[in-house]
Amino acid sequence: MKILSILILVCMVFPAYADDDSSSGDDNQITAVDNKQYLNECGSCHFAYQPSLLPIRSWKKLMLQLADHFGDNAELAAEEQKQLTDYLVANSADLSPDKFAKKLLQGLAKDETPLRITIIPYFVHEHDKIPKKAIGDNPEVKSLSYCNKCHTGAETGNYSENSIKIPGYERLNDDNSSH
Ligand code: HEC
Ligand code: HEC
Repeated sequence: MKILSILILVCMVFPAYADDDSSSGDDNQITAVDNKQYLNECGSCHFAYQPSLLPIRSWKKLMLQLADHFGDNAELAAEEQKQLTDYLVANSADLSPDKFAKKLLQGLAKDETPLRITIIPYFVHEHDKIPKKAIGDNPEVKSLSYCNKCHTGAETGNYSENSIKIPGYERLNDDNSSH
């Protein structure tokens, strides 16, 4: 009886370990959002950014000023605001096992509270080789804030290189080289 339950336990624990490993050990895998309320409320105007992309202090500050959110009003009822803040904090860069989250934090001074992922030094560094005409000058992308425009697996947290496809960019290249 005991042996059987140990066996069952082992079978249950090991696959979980394997999953954990691939999501935390890989730079390009970020823990996906599994919170429906967050997807609904924070994914309607833009991609629902994974909580591990900002530290606790940033989420707290951002969630306290939703009425003036990058020029938009993203205000929520008090209870919902609290629930979503709790979700973001619990899965923030500070508490996440994601490797990318750790790197984001490493390059960030403790007294800095960025409200954007796209201004964090490590993020900037990882994206600074992309030509301007593929981002800001590209109407199909607009800015680096629209992660899922280029990272086709962004919703599932897959940011691997072979899932990147910059929309309109190949065409821009064609325009330049064609005659
Ligand atoms: C009414 C539309 C709207 C809603 C709803 C909304 N946002 Fe935004 N959000 C914006 C706009 C506009 C920007 C700026 C995008 C840009 O610069 O192009 C933005 C930017 C952001 C950024 C910065 C992205 C970057 O550049 O790194 C974060 C983080 C963010 N929002 C989080 C949230 C969270 C969390 C919620 C839910 C509580 C939310 N947003 C709901 C409109 C919205
Ligand atoms: C214009 C297209 C584009 C947009 C928009 C974009 N990225 Fe990227 N991203 C790239 C490219 C290209 C690379 C690969 C850079 C390289 O390997 O040289 C990359 C790399 C990455 C990586 C892998 C870094 C590593 O350590 O290997 C992560 C994670 C990532 N981006 C997250 C994001 C997030 C989060 C957003 C939105 C806030 C975003 N990206 C927006 C194009 C984009």
